[in-house]
Amino acid sequence: MKPEIKLHDKTFIPSIPYEKISAAIDDVAAKLNADNAGCKDIPILICILNGSIMFTSELMKRLVFDIELVSMKVSSYQGIASTGSVHQVMGLTGSVKGRRVYIVEDIIDSGNTIAALYDILKGEGADSIEICTMLFKPEAYKKDIPVNYVGLCIPNDFIVGFGLDYDGLGRNYKDIYVLKKD
Ligand code: IMP
Ligand code: MG
Repeated sequence: MKPEIKLHDKTFIPSIPYEKISAAIDDVAAKLNADNAGCKDIPILICILNGSIMFTSELMKRLVFDIELVSMKVSSYQGIASTGSVHQVMGLTGSVKGRRVYIVEDIIDSGNTIAALYDILKGEGADSIEICTMLFKPEAYKKDIPVNYVGLCIPNDFIVGFGLDYDGLGRNYKDIYVLKKD
């Protein structure tokens, strides 16, 4: 890991090494594989762009049952804070009608995004919706929708890397870095 990275006006320091993220994804994939063993239907993974690209691709490689992939893009964050309002930047790339779906998220913070996604997918006729996230900030979560699969629980700090960005930058780092407090 780098000792620190600078993105725009902020400095970030090492937080979670790739090896720990990878082991957490192994665990999530093992649970999904166990839960889907013997299922006859083909579930859909919904990759929430852009943040979830890395997690979705790493997770998919570890799944041993058939899945279909659909993407959509929403946005709620500006800088280092959630705006509270979630807007759909790009709609679903495929139908979820009558299907069992897994929302695949990079991180769940306040839960506003997941709640909005839940409503959108229900509105589109999804048969069942489960949530799978690489990272979860339990102290920040304000909703009561169950988060079914969690890679790692983290404190309520702003992080970047492994798909997560600060105003568009930082997604490409394979390790996770946390905002340096001054
Ligand atoms: P929520 O709607 O507050 O749950 O926030 C979810 C979305 O905000 C995530 O999908 C991310 O795109 C973004 N987000 C939340 N926390 C962080 C963070 O620490 N770093 C970067 N993006 C974050
Ligand atoms: Mg996201």
